[in-house]
Amino acid sequence: MKTLTVHTPSHTYPIFIGNELLPQAGSLLKPHLGKRAAIITNETVAPLYLGTLQTALDAAGVSHFSIILPDGEAHKNWQTLNLIFDGLMQNRAERKTTLIALGGGVIGDMTGFAAATYQRGAPFVQIPTTLLSQVDSSVGGKTAINHPLGKNMIGAFYQPQAVLADLDTLHTLPVRELSAGIAEVIKYGALGDISFLNGWNSIYPN
Ligand SMILES: NC(=O)c1ccc[n+]([C@@H]2O[C@H](COP(=O)([O-])OP(=O)(O)OC[C@H]3O[C@@H](n4cnc5c(N)ncnc54)[C@H](O)[C@@H]3O)[C@@H](O)[C@H]2O)c1
Repeated sequence: MKTLTVHTPSHTYPIFIGNELLPQAGSLLKPHLGKRAAIITNETVAPLYLGTLQTALDAAGVSHFSIILPDGEAHKNWQTLNLIFDGLMQNRAERKTTLIALGGGVIGDMTGFAAATYQRGAPFVQIPTTLLSQVDSSVGGKTAINHPLGKNMIGAFYQPQAVLADLDTLHTLPVRELSAGIAEVIKYGALGDISFLNGWNSIYPN
């Protein structure tokens, strides 16, 4: 496992990167969680990874409940955001309840925005499960939902307490989504790291 540390004006947080991390999520994340956690995920990711995360939190003694949202960019809106708030209120989530985003960039962006605004700010953790969300959207603190007149138009800058990127979750990712993430990685090489880009060319010469 590799651990990177991100320094922001508000606080410093770790990014855990490696294989077989989701089963260890309870112990790795426990120092960054409250006593209670709300897992926010979607109907595609839940059957794949929610059980593993729940078991890991149980083993670490963190109580939790789950909110399962519809899947897709079309649902990154006020209506779906309200489903998060409904779940938090129905389960009597407190201000210290940690929101855990389990999914791709859509889940991460919506969970982050919900955390930024629930009771004027609740802690949140990112568990990104797409390559794009692991290399891009889970880091940096940009959260948002879409408006019918514009993408990502309503949101907040709000940093997570921790990010856990389990590379094993990429095994179930459709090829198209994997390609979108790889394109982002190549773009970063072109923008800021020519030696990284050249290294990439030697791996995939064509
Ligand atoms: N906050 C930021 O800085 C930032 C940066 C870039 C993009 N974004 C946002 O991220 C979103 C795109 O994120 P994305 O590309 O991750 O899309 P996504 O979240 O829609 O995920 C793509 C698809 O893969 C599914 N999926 C997720 N993990 C899976 C897994 N491990 N196995 C199988 N299926 C899985 C999802 O359910 C979905 O159907 C956009 O809304 C974009 O605006 C935000």
